[in-house]
Amino acid sequence: MVRLLRGTLLQFRHDPFLGPPEDALQVEEDGAVIVRGGCIESVGPYDALRARCASDIPEDDHRGCLIGPGFIDAHVHYPQLRAIASYGEQLLNWLERYIFPEEARFADIRYAREIARSFMDELLRNGTTTAAVYCTVHPQSVDAFFEESSHRNTRMIAGKVLMDRNAPEALRDTARTGFDQSRDLIEKWHGNGRQLYAVTPRFAPTSTPEQLDAAGKLLDLAPDLFMQTHLLETKAEEEWVRALFPRRSGYLDVYDHARLVRQRSIFGHGVHLTEHDRHHCHDAGCAIAHCARSNQFLGSGLFDLASAKQASRPLRVALGSDIGAGDSLSLLRVANESYKVAQIRGHKLHPAQAYWLATTGGAEALHLDHLIGAVQPGREADLCVLDPRATEISARRVAHATSWNDVLFALMMLGDDRHIRATYVAGERVYPSAP
Ligand code: GUN
Ligand code: ZN
Repeated sequence: MVRLLRGTLLQFRHDPFLGPPEDALQVEEDGAVIVRGGCIESVGPYDALRARCASDIPEDDHRGCLIGPGFIDAHVHYPQLRAIASYGEQLLNWLERYIFPEEARFADIRYAREIARSFMDELLRNGTTTAAVYCTVHPQSVDAFFEESSHRNTRMIAGKVLMDRNAPEALRDTARTGFDQSRDLIEKWHGNGRQLYAVTPRFAPTSTPEQLDAAGKLLDLAPDLFMQTHLLETKAEEEWVRALFPRRSGYLDVYDHARLVRQRSIFGHGVHLTEHDRHHCHDAGCAIAHCARSNQFLGSGLFDLASAKQASRPLRVALGSDIGAGDSLSLLRVANESYKVAQIRGHKLHPAQAYWLATTGGAEALHLDHLIGAVQPGREADLCVLDPRATEISARRVAHATSWNDVLFALMMLGDDRHIRATYVAGERVYPSAP
């Protein structure tokens, strides 16, 4: 299948956290992308590309819209889709009161399939083409998710939650069964088409030291496996971890002791990281998923992005919606909240930096930048087309924008799912779907 997309192309000249953010975006105003066999074949000015390619190649006209990489959501729980917007609790009580009862329903694979389908619809409608996804403790919740993702040919990272203590009985595995079930799922799904597996201990309080050690051993089973968990989201959680692991020097050390701090490890939140932790994460090459909307919703705290990105030891940071603690799957909405959190901290989050975190920087954070995250020849053709004028308010605002950075800023402040004009997965338009 071959196709030409016409519109304004967004690419990065450099990492906007390392070079001047104002100059980071490279914009081809009347640009084109040719996709063939699921990958990006060529990119450039429309006139030049059209002249070079066969006249019968179909063309999707997105003039007036921005063509960029699909969004990358580095932290999200698909089973929590229906528990979104649950009132009045902070993390630990919120888990007990709302989340664990909902996750228990995923013992039923029919229910898991129904939610997986709806979740994938919503992701694509929001322009997200890759996500790092928590399933539940039930292996069938993982099958349901990967079956749905395979069906849509999306590049997804997901895994079975490991939880052998401090959770309701119906949601507990053991160090042994958690290991065996994860091993079987790795064999079945890791590298199966575009699917990638993440070993997923929920967080230190719900795993015994034996289970965390087993998670470390799982990572030795196949190359390029991911690991995902939560880290330093709230102060109460941090204190609980200190009480549960008195022999460890801190929360990150609990994971490090089990050999879980490495490349392709994705730590959700990291709101309360110390400087020592940041050095450790930098050296290890692991990623932090910045989940600003979730942190605000649960009252968890203000992630210090400026410190995380300090140029002397920059961390790999990506954005996470963290549904159901987050209240939107739109990475535009997550970027909006990240900007406001930076404001409260007295920092500026430049639109090029926020867009980087949601796309190219997110791919880099996950060590997937050789495959996805850029509108460049050779990359997989996962694309998100943004319409800055999709609503009356954004159209009025963009009409007097002073630069492309300003257009992007307006999009991030005013944008949501209505501003997603189209989503492409491996070169096929998947949203909006054909009538
Ligand atoms: N920490 C442990 N589990 C969870 C979860 O499901 N959501 C969030 N936000 N934090 C967690
Ligand atoms: Zn989470």
